[in-house]
Amino acid sequence: MDLFSLLFLYLLSLSIYLLFLRPYPNQPKITGFKSYPLLGTLPEFLKNRHRFLDWTTGVLSATPSNTAVFRRPGKVHGIITANPANVEHVLKTNFENYPKGTKFISLLEDFLGRGIFNSDGDLWRVQRKTASYEFNTKSLRNFVIDTATVEIRTRLVPILEKAAESGRVLDVQDMLERFAFDNICKVAFNVDPGCLGGDGTAGGEFMRAFEEAATLSSGRFMYAFHHLYKIKKYFNMGSEHKLMKSIATVHEFADKIIKSRMEEKSENKDEDLLSRFIGTDKMSTELLRDVVISFILAGRDTTSSALTWFFWVLASNPEVEKKILNELETIRNRNAKRIGDAYSFEELREMHYLHAAISEAMRLYPPVPVDTKACLNDDVMPDGTFVAKEWFVTYHTYAMGRMESIWGSDCCEYKPDRWLENGTGFCRQESPFRFPVFHAGPRMCLGKDMAYNQMKSIAASVMERFEFDVQGDKETSPGHLLSLTLRMKGGLAVKVRERCMG
Ligand code: HEM
Repeated sequence: MDLFSLLFLYLLSLSIYLLFLRPYPNQPKITGFKSYPLLGTLPEFLKNRHRFLDWTTGVLSATPSNTAVFRRPGKVHGIITANPANVEHVLKTNFENYPKGTKFISLLEDFLGRGIFNSDGDLWRVQRKTASYEFNTKSLRNFVIDTATVEIRTRLVPILEKAAESGRVLDVQDMLERFAFDNICKVAFNVDPGCLGGDGTAGGEFMRAFEEAATLSSGRFMYAFHHLYKIKKYFNMGSEHKLMKSIATVHEFADKIIKSRMEEKSENKDEDLLSRFIGTDKMSTELLRDVVISFILAGRDTTSSALTWFFWVLASNPEVEKKILNELETIRNRNAKRIGDAYSFEELREMHYLHAAISEAMRLYPPVPVDTKACLNDDVMPDGTFVAKEWFVTYHTYAMGRMESIWGSDCCEYKPDRWLENGTGFCRQESPFRFPVFHAGPRMCLGKDMAYNQMKSIAASVMERFEFDVQGDKETSPGHLLSLTLRMKGGLAVKVRERCMG
């Protein structure tokens, strides 16, 4: 290469650096995301997107009000906040100004259609009304507890017994995901896909397709250039081709069940959610499918994610495990129960320490770590941050669990006792704006109680009979995969032992 070419290359690199890659010169003391001329936050985003949650948590904790502005080329502007006052403003006080928005809805529409999880306005309101009514009925609550109890006794426990006998390593995350999938399919449309324990022929393909559709749909949020997925979709290329195939499998499976249920013309006395929606509203087959898929998505990976991280943190906190076992023993003794007997709703309600231990695990590892809304009209947050029309607003639940401003200087430690009311030992309610793990305001999670009941039944039944010996490093937090929920990278490998109860 001659001298002239070298000089040219040097000048070209220098101009690119000065124009695009050098942070604004007046920025050294500004907190928040590093921003570059024209490219905004994009270079930092690309550098850190594989560790998005920890990167953004670090940035937010260093800002005065735990809020930062995010800019990317192509009108992708918004704020990310871990400030409870801002969260309350967005999710409740100024709710109407912060819908999911057309961008969010369009990214998930191929998969979720306009189900409750992916709609705004009247379409959302109608579904919410029916669902809120049904979620508050005793019959649904009992159906959910009975379904979980049967699956624990007939599938989960036998699998753990076998693993203990053979000494083989078991992936607890995979087991819990299969459990949750079977369980939510039963609750949503009274179908047992048999993914856990069974041979899985009925629903194995459905589960795989559902999994792939959820992961690839959420992958669309991570494109550096928002419209790239549309081009790939148009040409039916790569991940979009796979996504369309998996969506077709999911839809076909659900459609068959819905059609046959509608043709049965039974009195719709079944307990599952689909029957309840068929019975109360005049909905098209397509909307019924969207409703059911939204529920499966909501109930599928959330409880399994929470429990996977819960079992992982327990491994390095034996004193917490001991306290849970003591609580279970007290409840069994009080109610004349033996190990292995199913727990009733009232007994599950008495498990305050277990409730606290699960909540504390979700504080540090929330199943839905970030959630995003769209801003309809210019607004100012309670902390003074300006938000323009069409910006996105993300509240960062994962970061909020790690903010000193909310939880104090021991915010990164696992301490279930922080949830207990002084003296009574009862688990206290936390403000949903400081702990938005189940969302807050009018769109708060409908399945919160259902999820706690399910998680407590599983944790209690498993812990009183088995010990998990977590393989590998118990101290360093495992990596996570960011799908729509927080999944543990590589799963949770354990060796299972039957617990000796002396
Ligand atoms: C540990 C378990 C769970 C967690 C952490 C959780 C968390 C959440 C969060 C953060 C949202 C708001 C999502 C958004 O609007 O963007 C949500 C909504 C929702 N969840 Fe849950 N969820 C859990 C379990 C469940 C279960 C078992 C069900 C039952 C099917 C369920 C049903 C729903 C529904 C229907 C919505 C939509 C509510 C609406 O938009 O009006 N969730 N959940």
